[in-house]
Parts: sequence; C-alpha cells; structure tokens
Amino acid sequence: MKIIRTYATSANLGPGFDCFGICLNLYNEYSFEKSDDYEIKEFNEKFCNPTNNLIIKSYEEVFKLLNKNIIPIKLTELVHNIPSSRGLGSSASCIVSGVMIANDILGNVLSVDEVFQIASSIEGHPDNVAPLIFGGLTCSFKNEVFHTIKFNCDENFKFTVCIPSFELKTSVARSVLPKSISMADAVSNISHSVALIKALETGDMELLKIANVDKLHETYRLPLINESNYFKDFAENNNATCMISGAGPTILLISKDSLNISLNDWQIIEQSVNNQGAYIYEK
Ligand code: HSE
Repeated sequence: MKIIRTYATSANLGPGFDCFGICLNLYNEYSFEKSDDYEIKEFNEKFCNPTNNLIIKSYEEVFKLLNKNIIPIKLTELVHNIPSSRGLGSSASCIVSGVMIANDILGNVLSVDEVFQIASSIEGHPDNVAPLIFGGLTCSFKNEVFHTIKFNCDENFKFTVCIPSFELKTSVARSVLPKSISMADAVSNISHSVALIKALETGDMELLKIANVDKLHETYRLPLINESNYFKDFAENNNATCMISGAGPTILLISKDSLNISLNDWQIIEQSVNNQGAYIYEK
C-alpha cells in the first residue's frame, strides 16, 4: 500500500505576505492505489464525491496537462489533523497530494520542480505549496514561472499554532485588503521581511521581534479575529512574537521557549519546523 504524508504550512510569516511560508509537523495521510472506478473512503461525506474532492481534482489536472487518460484510484483518508479554512494550508495540502499521487501513478514522469509549478498554478500562489514540497522555510515568487528559495530555519524556534473553532475563508480575508499601498509601507515590508528571514535563519529572537512588522495585510485582517489582541499581549509578555497564519484565523506564535497558553474554544499546538516536506512511502 502506498501512502502520502502531507503537512500543514503557515504562509506570510508577518511581513512576507504572499511570499514566505514554513512547513510544520501537523500532517494528514492518505493511502492510494489504482482502481477500476474512483473509491473515496473515510473522508468527510461532502468530499466523498470525486468532483468535490480537491485531491482528485488536482490529480486529474495532471493527467489533463500531460494528455493522459485518467486512471481512477481508491483514495482513503487515514489521518486528518490539518483543519480546513484556518490558514494552515489545507488547500495546498490537497493540491500537492493530488499532483504527487498522479505523478506516482504515472511512474514519476515529473521533476520536483514540475510538481511545484503545477501545484502552484492550481493554487494560484506558491507560498503554501513551496514549503510543503521542499520542506522548511521558503520565499517564493513568480515572474514567467514560479520560483522558490529555501532558507535554513533555526531548529530551536517553537511555532505555536492557535487554531480557533471558527473558519475564515481566504476569499473573505483577501477581500478586506486594500487595492494599493503607499511607498512607505512597501519599503517597510521589504526591509522587515529580509530582517525576518535573517532572524529565523540565525535563531535571533530579538531581531525576530523587531522584524515582525507588517503593513500589507495584518492591520486589515486582525479585526476579523476578535481574540487577536489576547495573543499579541501574550506574545509581548512572554518573549514571543505573534502573527496571523496565512490568511487566518489561526494565530502563529514564534518563541524559543514552550508557551504556557490556553484559551477557551482555541486549540493550541506547539510545532517545530519540518524540513522534509510531503512524501510518499510504501507500507
Ligand atoms: N498569502 C495568502 C494570503 C495565504 O495571505 O491571502 C492564503 O492562501
């Protein structure tokens, strides 16, 4: 039996809006094998229909791109830890799974970069896809094609994800953003994002706190997350720094020490950086 393990990712990391992402250890697993017809097992009922299942849609996209006849599969959800619509890369996780499964079923005809290009095109932006495929901390961008640079992330950092019980659709979180920004805000984000990468690479907690200033998205999105001030205050008082994970509503706290934090209706999980990224194994 073949199994794909796919991870949660946290995009943006404060000032790195639509560019930075990190792979965490929270994972989902799916088994897959060729089948005469599609069989989708153990998923939430609404995803059991192949036409509603983002893994299958992404899987089929590879066959279409390569002009191949679609080979149906039996796909079984074995482990489900990555919550949907919480800013932890659940859609990127489905898309990358579909593309990697298709590549495996077709005999590994695609390079890792081709998997990255296809998955990023399906998702529309590469900031969650890149850390999931390459592992670790990435900065991604697009000119003619998608590009990503992987950075070392100091392994002593702890990434505490604070996941609320409510969802926030990315489309809603993007709808509150301004259409244009000032030159001063652009300059602020460029400088702070470079400093943030340096801080994560070198394990410099003081620099990380100084660098974590965003002018592009957090100001507009934080009002959508009522409890965000609680986490900001907690971070300030506990040698941590606080940011929105992806488009939210999950809040990400980065610190050197484990954080003793809890809040009603919020699931709080300490994570570390995952340097491997998604992979397929045989059992
Ligand atoms: N960079 C994206 C955003 C992540 O913040 O909207 C969500 O997919």
